[in-house]
Amino acid sequence: MSDPSEPDLPPRKSHGRLQISASAKPRVLMEEPLLLKGAWVARIITLFPDAFPGTLGLSLTGKALDLGTWRLEPIDLRPFGLGKHRNVDDTPAGGGAGMVLRADVVDAALKQAADGTPRDRARWPVIYLSPRGKPFDQATARAWAAADGITLLCGRFEGVDQRVLDHWQIEEVSLGDFVMTGGEIAAQAMLDATVRLIPGVLGNAESIEDESHSHGLLEHPQYTRPQDWEGMEIPPVLTSGDHGKIAKWRRQEAEKITAERRPDLWAKKGR
Ligand SMILES: C[S@@+](CC[C@H](N)C(=O)[O-])C[C@H]1O[C@@H](n2cnc3c(N)ncnc32)[C@H](O)[C@@H]1O
Repeated sequence: MSDPSEPDLPPRKSHGRLQISASAKPRVLMEEPLLLKGAWVARIITLFPDAFPGTLGLSLTGKALDLGTWRLEPIDLRPFGLGKHRNVDDTPAGGGAGMVLRADVVDAALKQAADGTPRDRARWPVIYLSPRGKPFDQATARAWAAADGITLLCGRFEGVDQRVLDHWQIEEVSLGDFVMTGGEIAAQAMLDATVRLIPGVLGNAESIEDESHSHGLLEHPQYTRPQDWEGMEIPPVLTSGDHGKIAKWRRQEAEKITAERRPDLWAKKGR
């Protein structure tokens, strides 16, 4: 709904962008939570809130953010830190290199992130970005986009104290089998894949239908003008105007590419 005090103004640039800071306000966690109505919301607990929106502020996801179709609420972990220096980490129990994010500090941030959100994890997943996690995929993006919002916890250093992960029954999700220095890039990648599935974010809904991973296949090759580039022609079927033949050709190419490049996906198609 528009703001009656600003009836003719376009949405403010900051419309979907809100940074939540630590608060000493007591929270009545036992009450049925206040629902966040309307926009899909991403709450991101991070030591680097300035990393957001990052690439999410560009193009279609950025436009949707400005229009308030979805909201981004980075929660700075630092103010929850302890002592004069707001320490958020400590040395690993049992010894070894690096530092671990403290359970009490992360817990305080998670409490703030939970404020007003549904407790049903299908409606509001609570995720720790982690190379140990379940691999992120299109089905996960679809499930998250169908929720009301999400909380993402970005780790740093050697990760997060296990006790707080267990206590909050946080699901761990990985961007892939590699290790990055922090969860922020993983959060942005997963949010990009998720937010573009929220109705109204992409201009052309059909582009979600046909693309890679939407039907367990990789996408067919794409071409555009010029008709002849460096002596290479666009496959004639694509300029034939015969939509039946074009659909058949695209399907065959998608199957060929999937079988060649991703035998694991091809096997799942049951062929
Ligand atoms: C250096 S990593 C910690 C790695 C951890 N010690 C391990 O071996 O599993 C620091 C943080 O980066 C994030 N991260 C690193 N790689 C990731 C991946 N592949 N997917 C998601 N998050 C990742 C996590 O939030 C992690 O807590």
